[in-house]
Amino acid sequence: METLHVLGMAGSLRKNSYNRFLLRAALELAPEGMKFTTFDLAPVPLYNAEMDGEVKPKPVMALKNAIREADALLFVTPEYNHGIPGVLKNAIDWASRPAGRSPLAGKPAAIMGASQGLWGTVRAQIQLRQVLAATNTHVVLKPEILVAKAQNKFDAEGRLTDKGTREFVRELLEALGDWTLRLRGKEPSFTVGEDGE
Ligand code: FNR
Repeated sequence: METLHVLGMAGSLRKNSYNRFLLRAALELAPEGMKFTTFDLAPVPLYNAEMDGEVKPKPVMALKNAIREADALLFVTPEYNHGIPGVLKNAIDWASRPAGRSPLAGKPAAIMGASQGLWGTVRAQIQLRQVLAATNTHVVLKPEILVAKAQNKFDAEGRLTDKGTREFVRELLEALGDWTLRLRGKEPSFTVGEDGE
């Protein structure tokens, strides 16, 4: 079985970010046949078309190369004012250029997010799906991982302790693995049938 390489990135820069913790949980819950690397968005400068020539800022080159080399992507987004945080949108804007040669185009991806509110980033995730439609990134539809009241679902060390959420994250990663294989015309092998096959 070949190993799928997933690149994960979180849209929060703070050390004790629930979304960074959620990304860490995904690393821990990755199914057999999937390995993760993560990309820290902190060094990526604000998008400026004047800096987006043949020579680009080093963190932007690193981001684009990391996306290009990955088999699939995992975006973990907070929700700021009912929308995608600038940190994540900015990274996507850089990676989306030049139009027609973006490493995001055709790339399989999954989305999840955590917030301290009741809605678990649902509005940010809807926006993110819309943005990733513009970049022709192929986002898995289900399951949706909306981690509401995140402050109750991680322990003091940032470990995801909520059993149901852990199960959903595992299911999303399996769905992403199968989605990636399907897009390559291969048989899905990450999920097992409901009857246990
Ligand atoms: C928030 N937060 C928030 N939560 C939410 O559910 N819906 C929202 O619209 C907002 N808006 C918002 C705006 C700004 C500027 C901040 C800083 C925060 C709260 C947010 O869910 C909470 O701070 C999370 O902990 C942020 O994610 P990280 O940093 O823990 O990953």
